[in-house]
Amino acid sequence: MFHFTKIAVAAVSLLTLTACGQGGGDAAGSSEAAKAPAAQPSDAERQALLAALPAPYNTGDLENGRRQFGLCRSCHTVAEGGPNLTGPNLHGVFGRTAGTVEGYRYSDALLAAGFEWDAERLDAWLANPRTYLPGNRMTFAGLADPKKRLDLIAYLKVESGYAATAAEAPAPEAPAPTDAES
Ligand code: HEC
Repeated sequence: MFHFTKIAVAAVSLLTLTACGQGGGDAAGSSEAAKAPAAQPSDAERQALLAALPAPYNTGDLENGRRQFGLCRSCHTVAEGGPNLTGPNLHGVFGRTAGTVEGYRYSDALLAAGFEWDAERLDAWLANPRTYLPGNRMTFAGLADPKKRLDLIAYLKVESGYAATAAEAPAPEAPAPTDAES
């Protein structure tokens, strides 16, 4: 009866030994830097892009938004040039007409939607996709918490290129330092 413990202990040490045996070559990893993706914003740039978003999204928590995007990641990429998965790539989604990512086969519901995605529409869509556009094929139950949606939308704005584009638009110039004259 008490043999179980012994067997378990033996099994564990065997596993440990096996795991330790798998040391070795880390020749991989050097190729990573070579194919760097299209410039991703740094964390500081992300915070600046966030701060420049229209209220209330400038108050979004990017880290929580990233966590919430974990709900979408299995079906969507958001990086520029990212592949369509079960759902279409979301880069540039803000200001884009619904159902128009090239090479992606939408449901009739999305094809007929005819509006441009903005924060308000995305907010309603993410709260309950099924009722927002009946007949669509996005099998996502919805994100009920408005704060989570706010953080997620702020994250999407920063990561989908919306904020970067908006930042290129004529922005109020930072006041030049004038104390050089005195
Ligand atoms: C189980 C897979 C799945 C999950 C999870 C999912 N989506 Fe989708 N999404 C889809 C599919 C499929 C479509 C296309 C629906 C259609 O054609 O009816 C879609 C469409 C969309 C669209 C419309 C895109 C366009 O080009 O018009 C947006 C925006 C979107 N999803 C955002 C999200 C976000 C944000 C999340 C996470 C909160 C999410 N989705 C979670 C599968 C998913």
